[in-house]
Amino acid sequence: MIITRVTDWIGCTPLLELRIRNSDWRLFLKLEKFNPGGSMKDRMARGMIDAAERSGRLKPGGTIVESSSGNTGTGLAMVAAERGYRFIVVVDHQTAKDKIRTMKALGATAVVIGADRPGDRVATADREALAREIAETTPGAVLMAQHENPANAASYDGLARDLVEVLGSFDLLIGSVGTGGSLCGTARGVKAQCPRTRVIGVEPKGSVIFGAQGGTYYQSGTGVPPDVALGSVIDYPLIDEGCTVGDAAAFNACRFMAHRFGLLLGGSAGGVIYAAAERLRTLPGSGTMVALVGDGGEKYLDTIYDDDWMTERRLLDRSVETDLAMVLTSIDASEDIHAAA
Ligand SMILES: Cc1ncc(COP(=O)(O)O)c(C=O)c1O
Repeated sequence: MIITRVTDWIGCTPLLELRIRNSDWRLFLKLEKFNPGGSMKDRMARGMIDAAERSGRLKPGGTIVESSSGNTGTGLAMVAAERGYRFIVVVDHQTAKDKIRTMKALGATAVVIGADRPGDRVATADREALAREIAETTPGAVLMAQHENPANAASYDGLARDLVEVLGSFDLLIGSVGTGGSLCGTARGVKAQCPRTRVIGVEPKGSVIFGAQGGTYYQSGTGVPPDVALGSVIDYPLIDEGCTVGDAAAFNACRFMAHRFGLLLGGSAGGVIYAAAERLRTLPGSGTMVALVGDGGEKYLDTIYDDDWMTERRLLDRSVETDLAMVLTSIDASEDIHAAA
């Protein structure tokens, strides 16, 4: 394949099929880490910039501003570099160092806040307030406002089309919810073609999207903490069910995917896969489930994949890996040496 811009590669992501033990259900993981910026957020970064250009708000040589846990920022930095915009990203002290380095390497200016905060939890509300202030005080700057921006969810039209084209009509779509753009945007497109598809949203335990009690969590990018307002991109009627997954379950699910399938994934992906396996363990009959897997694990080597970091926070729980191995295996039965071992 020949491309003429790096962003032409956005959306070219594979579906990995896994086998469900003792079940006629099929599970497909949409591996969004294979977008050029390493996450599904590349799709919305390009979509929001396209929309800002079309509306005339973003002028040639202008400045883009956004608060990000890193993936939206990386996508925006990539598109900004390609199109000659300046990009200012506001991140917090909990943003993975590699994500900040990546954005800076792509030419972004990173403003890091929260180092004076006690503990090591994310400072989403402060980040968003500062991004707004920078956008308001910088001439020619445009705030992307991903939680309120309709172009966020609309950017996942292509993902929905791609899924239906490859799989036809399917039964269940499961994905994480932060701004809600990826799940609601995909759900909208899929339901338009396959109205019977049920949609399951996954948030970290401690996030308040589906009405559970608020608290703190380490899963990055996903969920809405209790001190942050829910944005208009979350379109509740499109989500048939919501569920929560704790950090330990999500992160040990990531480690299971690495150890069993050789696939490094981020924490929200671990949460989605854990929730998917919990459903598939007991779902009767047959059907097809698609899981949106947001990003890769390369950015979380110092946290999710670091035994000391996990142990210090009492998150290491090898029983999650054992439980998942009872449900998920490779589609190629001859490779199932793990079950025999
Ligand atoms: C890794 C990861 N997972 C999930 C999400 C949540 O996605 P959305 O904002 O589309 O709901 C994000 C958002 O930044 C993310 O970076």
